[in-house]
Amino acid sequence: METLQAIFTRRSIRHYTKDPVSAETVQKLLEAGMSGPSACDFQPWHLVVIDDRKILDEIPTFHAHASMLPEAPMAILVCGEPDVSRYWQQDCGAAAENILLAAHDLGLGAVWLGLYPRENRTVPMRKLLNIPENVSPMALIVMGHPNEQKPPQGKFTEEKVHRNRW
Ligand SMILES: Cc1cc2nc3c(=O)[nH]c(=O)nc-3n(C[C@H](O)[C@H](O)[C@H](O)COP(=O)(O)O)c2cc1C
Repeated sequence: METLQAIFTRRSIRHYTKDPVSAETVQKLLEAGMSGPSACDFQPWHLVVIDDRKILDEIPTFHAHASMLPEAPMAILVCGEPDVSRYWQQDCGAAAENILLAAHDLGLGAVWLGLYPRENRTVPMRKLLNIPENVSPMALIVMGHPNEQKPPQGKFTEEKVHRNRW
């Protein structure tokens, strides 16, 4: 898939088949995440692959918008280290978007679940996965083989474009 085609056709996918995601595909997703830009190239991210059914099913108990988890074969948690870079949130956002686009390119469906800065989500997530205090869980990318199809949205809005001055 061409890069622009992937960007324009990616959608949040919340229904998945029961098929597992292969180890080879997971490796590509991880490499895509870590290929993103980061301030000073500090790469303040950590990626946690979650495919333990019990852990996946636990997440909706503290995340109100995670009802797709019981259907999903896996997720990748994007975490950041604030001590490594003051731009960790932006860097992790770039990693998360790279994973979403790579998943789409590889024929998977994925959705970004927000965690940081909501402590009612980051604290239980840290506890569930034994994440150290100096690492912030930032975004959970839930994914699997898609069991729904969505058309491109076409979100371009000319009114939000400003040229030279506002
Ligand atoms: C920071 C962030 C947090 C999000 N949190 C959730 C979430 O908790 N649950 C969910 O189902 N979707 C979540 N989404 C996905 C958005 O709902 C989705 O991107 C938006 O509705 C646009 O749809 P699209 O991704 O298909 O273009 C989140 C997206 C972002 C970027």
